[in-house]
Amino acid sequence: MLEVKRADFPVLVNNEKMIYMDSAATSLKPQIVIDKINEYYTKYGVNIHRGVYDLSSKATDEYEELRTVVAKFINCKPREVVYTKGTTNGLNMLAQILKANIHEGDEIIVSQLDHHSLVMPWQNVAKEKGAKLVFIELNEKNQITIENFKKVLTKKTKIVNLTYVSNVLGVVAPVKEITKLAHEIGAIVICDGAQAVPHMKVDVQDLDVDFLAFSGHKMLGPTGCGILYGKYDLLNSLEPEEFGGDMNDGVEMYDSTFKDAPEKFEAGTPNIAGLIALKPAIEYLSKLGMENVHNHSLSLAKYVVENIKNNDMIELYTKEPESGIVTFNIKGIHPHDTATFLAAQNICVRAGHHCAQLITHHLGCMGTVRASFYIYNTIEEAQALVAAINGACEYFKEWII
Ligand code: ALA
Repeated sequence: MLEVKRADFPVLVNNEKMIYMDSAATSLKPQIVIDKINEYYTKYGVNIHRGVYDLSSKATDEYEELRTVVAKFINCKPREVVYTKGTTNGLNMLAQILKANIHEGDEIIVSQLDHHSLVMPWQNVAKEKGAKLVFIELNEKNQITIENFKKVLTKKTKIVNLTYVSNVLGVVAPVKEITKLAHEIGAIVICDGAQAVPHMKVDVQDLDVDFLAFSGHKMLGPTGCGILYGKYDLLNSLEPEEFGGDMNDGVEMYDSTFKDAPEKFEAGTPNIAGLIALKPAIEYLSKLGMENVHNHSLSLAKYVVENIKNNDMIELYTKEPESGIVTFNIKGIHPHDTATFLAAQNICVRAGHHCAQLITHHLGCMGTVRASFYIYNTIEEAQALVAAINGACEYFKEWII
């Protein structure tokens, strides 16, 4: 088990009884991240890349340093790191900048595990270009398998979208193997790393994916900032979709030129404070070790599953945890009612479709209750969750017809 101090997280200090199990929605932030935001705004809170005065250089240096920190964390080059507003922004940007390569009849692979921000941009591209979305069939455990991927991969496949870790079920896709197959036919692989990068070691060179998007706020960092990784030559060959300050090289009356990547994809004044404060967040995780982070959340998920799986009132969707997510319903009870019962016991979980309606429909329900664990959760909290779920089953027994 990891030893993370509750005292590091002001929200936990200020809400003494809170058991926070909604880190898949957003993680809590350690004091060092909050201090860094404060440091920027109080000590050198000016714009980056624009001024020639000392404070602007300081802000620029702090801001640019994040590329090196991220590059080390996911094993890429700093110039392959594009700053975004978050995973949603990165994935939407990708669909826009890649759509010039999509033509009528082309196929784009997705799956029912995909978050709305991965599948929806490609629905639009498919409609606009006359291309086709093709869904990988999930197996009986709702996983993506190589066999099922091979069934949908054709010479017409141009893009393969992969959710590395499902935000609803916590299942982990075989990204490396699928990427290898996709590359054999020349397809581009986009990986949604929103629930993977904060929780496990992700090495983009080992996976060989072409693009990887993730958010700062799910990995101890501030909201409104994220990263889009792209293999440099491919990334740099693409045209930007947003235009404005800082991304251009020169602007004439009827034409403009752009900087090279990553800057050409970073128009306008960004979330400077957020991006600067993502550095201590990554450093905090690196110090813990990503393998330890993964094992910690996984062990809590396994404990909960082990202790609720024989309760016949529970429909368990995460039967064999692969990450720190447990999803379930009390049969016949609306997930919001279950989550409200847990909230009354200070346990914060998410209920609903989790911005991934395709998998909720596939499971045949209107929504689920999801407990998602992170570094600050403890075995005592997992025990409290099990007790509260059992209590909810007792309480709701008479509601069920
Ligand atoms: N998509 C995020 C979640 O899974 C917000 O809760």
